[in-house]
Amino acid sequence: MRKHSTKLSLSEIANSDLRAAFILELFGLSFSDNGPMSLEQASEEAGIPIEYVRNTLSRYLDKDFNPEDTLTAILSNIVTVHHSFTWKVLPEIERLFEGIAPGTDLEKARDLFIKMAANIRNHSRDEEQRFFPRLRELEATGIETLSVEELEEELVSMEDDHANCLGALKRLQILTGGYVIQDNDPPDYKLLMRLLRLLEFDLKVHIHKENNLLHRKLKNLLEVK
Ligand SMILES: [Fe+2]
Ligand SMILES: [Fe+2]
Repeated sequence: MRKHSTKLSLSEIANSDLRAAFILELFGLSFSDNGPMSLEQASEEAGIPIEYVRNTLSRYLDKDFNPEDTLTAILSNIVTVHHSFTWKVLPEIERLFEGIAPGTDLEKARDLFIKMAANIRNHSRDEEQRFFPRLRELEATGIETLSVEELEEELVSMEDDHANCLGALKRLQILTGGYVIQDNDPPDYKLLMRLLRLLEFDLKVHIHKENNLLHRKLKNLLEVK
């Protein structure tokens, strides 16, 4: 398992793996013109808690993932890498939104976020407590235990939720001006924009894994049945 020491410089991390360079970019940590700076120092100067950067590097780069894996392994990757992050970051973003002054443009973004977060929580809870255990059982006991119509309906409903979430993310990006921050913005505002950008990225990868990998595998099973 690869460890990203906080003492490593941004350029050393970017050199180690191109994916790491993209993650630094996601946090606005400029490895091209601040290459010799350590991750610790750069995060501190940018006002980003170091654990967010380190955990993101670790989540995306250290968790083994193979598109050919079993359903159970894919489900485990989705829950470990994405659901756990979502459960942790939603309350943190809600807390940061609480400090928003009334009457500002960001109030609309906050209202939209609160609705989106409620939908994400309901959807994720349903996946973890009902849908995913059913899929594990399906893999363990065989396709003949499956009601095709019911599963087809499930997939349509889940993918509708995903499409709604992607639509909300698009609106959120517009309402926040693309998560752009200025040097003189307050630290909490900067962190809020960075966490929203990170959440958007993570939800897109999360939904990609469910729609294009997990659900596609299930649709293939239905076709051969
Ligand atoms: Fe999910
Ligand atoms: Fe989902």
